[in-house]
Amino acid sequence: MTDATLNTAGKAVELPTLEGSIGPSVLDIRKMYAATGQFTYDPGFTSTASCESGLTYIDGDEGVLLHRGYPIGQLAEHSSFMEVCYLLLNGELPSQSELGQFSRIISRHTMLHEQLATFYRGFRRDAHPMAIMCGVVGALSAFYHDSTDINDPQQRKIASHRLIAKMPTIAAMAYKYSVGQPFLYPDNSLSYTGNFLRMTFGVPAEPYVVVPEVERALDRIFILHADHEQNASTSTVRLAGSSGANPFACIAAGIACLWGPAHGGANEAALNMLREIGTPDRIPHYIARAKDKNDPFRLMGFGHRVYKNYDPRATVMQKTVREVFAALKVNDPLFETALQLEEIALSDPYFAEKKLFPNVDFYSGIILSAIGFPTTMFTVLFALARTVGWVAQWNEMISDPNQKIGRPRQLYTGPVQRDYVPLSAR
Ligand code: ACO
Repeated sequence: MTDATLNTAGKAVELPTLEGSIGPSVLDIRKMYAATGQFTYDPGFTSTASCESGLTYIDGDEGVLLHRGYPIGQLAEHSSFMEVCYLLLNGELPSQSELGQFSRIISRHTMLHEQLATFYRGFRRDAHPMAIMCGVVGALSAFYHDSTDINDPQQRKIASHRLIAKMPTIAAMAYKYSVGQPFLYPDNSLSYTGNFLRMTFGVPAEPYVVVPEVERALDRIFILHADHEQNASTSTVRLAGSSGANPFACIAAGIACLWGPAHGGANEAALNMLREIGTPDRIPHYIARAKDKNDPFRLMGFGHRVYKNYDPRATVMQKTVREVFAALKVNDPLFETALQLEEIALSDPYFAEKKLFPNVDFYSGIILSAIGFPTTMFTVLFALARTVGWVAQWNEMISDPNQKIGRPRQLYTGPVQRDYVPLSAR
């Protein structure tokens, strides 16, 4: 493709075009400011590629999501979360022995430093578990000094393994703390996801039996959330990491960003919304509210910055709801409300014109609630699963020779220079 020429400020500037392996090409504007004295303006980065990445590809118009080239539907159906973690971190699917070795390494890091348990006690019992996650994950940097040198690839690897391995333990402890039950130590004879279920729902007084269908469903939910290219929390992790901050601090920053209702907090908000709607007869009222410009209400779990088509993860989620209901012999009437809400919204011109479709969060809350998680834990589960994406993206960034500290510029609209007026003269 030929380079573009930008005519601006009385100058003609050549902007090189860079080609990816698939997807839109990008205009390289790195030298633009030096050449023209002008910045580009792009709040929300809707037209800006902030980095080069080989991890995840999304075609939002076609509803395509690939991890290292593999479609998310195939990964969700055939692989395991551990396998996807390996894929994201290493670039290729593991062999049987590589997967076994990787799973063993992760399971060897599942325990937390014992002192961290006392850290939890500083929180109020009714603290939101995401507040606890932000604090405890950030605190890991105070406990694992031997894996905070970001210039040492081996230390980066160990930090990555620690984060992936400890996140289920941290998340389960946040839950246990909120319900006043004792923390359970990890059981490394179980799978990554089975172990998390046991630490969350088991009690020391009796054995915990993992239901295979639930284990598989939750593992699949983890796969669906593993990575999603340069979303807000991942960009936050990259930005924090660009200054050389340690990986535990960077992931804590990502967790803080994920917490927002426009991002990871949407799964909690979506289920709360479905509960508020309640029965299908009340759907039209809420559809009208979502369309009303003067009403801040939005259909949570609907719409996406990148997907202007059905989110491929929502398709898998909808199927998984039925599997979990069958395994647990439950039937939440909210699922029917959700299905009807989807149908009504998709046939409404407002949603069609704005290309608003269900996203990954629309059905996930129904599954998680059926498994027994309170809504406050939903975003925690998202953070747990997204940790691999965050660390893979962070590692990719640190290894990138073009990496620079992230430092956007601005369009300044404040007062121009003026002289200080003494207090007595104001
Ligand atoms: N309900 C009603 N209207 C909506 C919705 C919605 N869920 N989402 C977008 N719109 C409308 C907006 O009002 C806007 O209308 P306008 O053009 O008339 O002003 C238009 O669609 C475009 O919306 P923007 O907010 O400009 O789109 P953006 O790409 O910035 O936002 C977002 C995407 C934040 C996801 C938005 O769709 C939303 O708030 N959805 C609900 C929250 C949600 O489900 N978030 C989860 C995202 S997925 C994830 O993080 C895992």
